Amino acid sequence: MRFYDIIQKKRDGAALSEEEIRYAVDGFTGGSVPDYQMSALLMAIFLRGMDSRELSVLTDAMMRSGETVDLSMFGNLSVDKHSTGGVGDKTTLIVAPIVAALGGKVAKMSGRGLGHTGGTVDKLEAIPGFKTALSREEFLRQVEEIGVAVIGATGNLAPADKKIYALRDVTATVDSIPLIASSIMSKKLASGSQNIVLDVKYGSGAFMKTVEAARQLAGTMVEIGKASGRNMAAVITNMDIPLGYAVGNALEVEESVAVLSGQGPEDLWQVSRALAARMLSLFSGLPDDESTARVEEAVSGGAALRKFEEWIVRQGGRADFIADFIGEPGGLGVSPVRYAYKAAADGYITGMDAEKIGKAASALGAGRAQAGDTIDPLAGIILKRKTGDFCRAGETIAELHTSKDALLEEACAYLDGALTFGPDKPAPQPLISGVIQ
Ligand code: URA
Repeated sequence: MRFYDIIQKKRDGAALSEEEIRYAVDGFTGGSVPDYQMSALLMAIFLRGMDSRELSVLTDAMMRSGETVDLSMFGNLSVDKHSTGGVGDKTTLIVAPIVAALGGKVAKMSGRGLGHTGGTVDKLEAIPGFKTALSREEFLRQVEEIGVAVIGATGNLAPADKKIYALRDVTATVDSIPLIASSIMSKKLASGSQNIVLDVKYGSGAFMKTVEAARQLAGTMVEIGKASGRNMAAVITNMDIPLGYAVGNALEVEESVAVLSGQGPEDLWQVSRALAARMLSLFSGLPDDESTARVEEAVSGGAALRKFEEWIVRQGGRADFIADFIGEPGGLGVSPVRYAYKAAADGYITGMDAEKIGKAASALGAGRAQAGDTIDPLAGIILKRKTGDFCRAGETIAELHTSKDALLEEACAYLDGALTFGPDKPAPQPLISGVIQ
């Protein structure tokens, strides 16, 4: 087989055979196919797309390029959730203990944040002592015994995706629905859960800027998962403004405790409830309304918060901030510098660019500009107002938390660019735009 012929075939719009796709993925991962040929093939896929058969094979080839996790000992109870990334998105910290309290087996591998979006592993590491690396045996034993474990994804999971993504990143081939869908699903399938719920976000802080694109990506990923025998659902959610009020690692952990205590912000609770209910429906077969009621009971009755505490302690984390929670942030520590970002004039907030707010939090120390940068777990932003709220001149819109005064200027510049004001209250936007099952 000649790689040249594979590129030419896709360039001319034909569908590739299984053998050709596996030859390309295995050859590139193994080093026999050079970057320049794989780049040309990726661009041809970007321009010509792939049909569902090709996508299933591509995903499967990437999944099989590294280790896969066998969760078959949990039968139909293994359940995972993946978010396409957003700002203030701490739903894993909320849904994992809820679902574990309801009998699910959540064996989850998560990532770190990069750019304007946060990562679950960084949030968990804001809890002193919490270990995000466990041996395979410890990981599975913990899931067996308490129903939940979350660890950092290792480089051995779908290494083909890692290598292909690095090439896409420098060849303008990242924002292709077939390539994004196969990239995400190769890692999800390798992680082993039988039931997978996707939170596909759209809006200013998301990868997908429009609801139509998010729906298309969700449909493609659901189809790939089903073709591989998994039970799938996708929830399409808004990421035009941050989810909840906290952006930053420790601040987000504390806001998650607020939700699990029944005192969290309404938008974050609604999205968390929808995701947890879909997860429960997939592994239990319960109808949606009953799943939603069970999720509500797990929170109102305290089972979800008790499970959260059990999980944190089991992974070595300090848990006093949970028991001592008083509805305010600060239990995990307080940044030495706090600055009130204020409204310059009276008016409604008509828009909040979530990506710029994520960048502001990152500039304060909550995120990384480059992989490998260290982060300040206490840094971030507590929003005091969100889109649709009225502000008087001089009222605080956001509280900025950081370790150095010098970091405030860049963060304030991002916030200046993120917020728009006007005399009229903007129409509210739907938070959940549909479920694909
Ligand atoms: N996230 C991924 O894992 N892969 C992509 O291609 C895009 C977002």
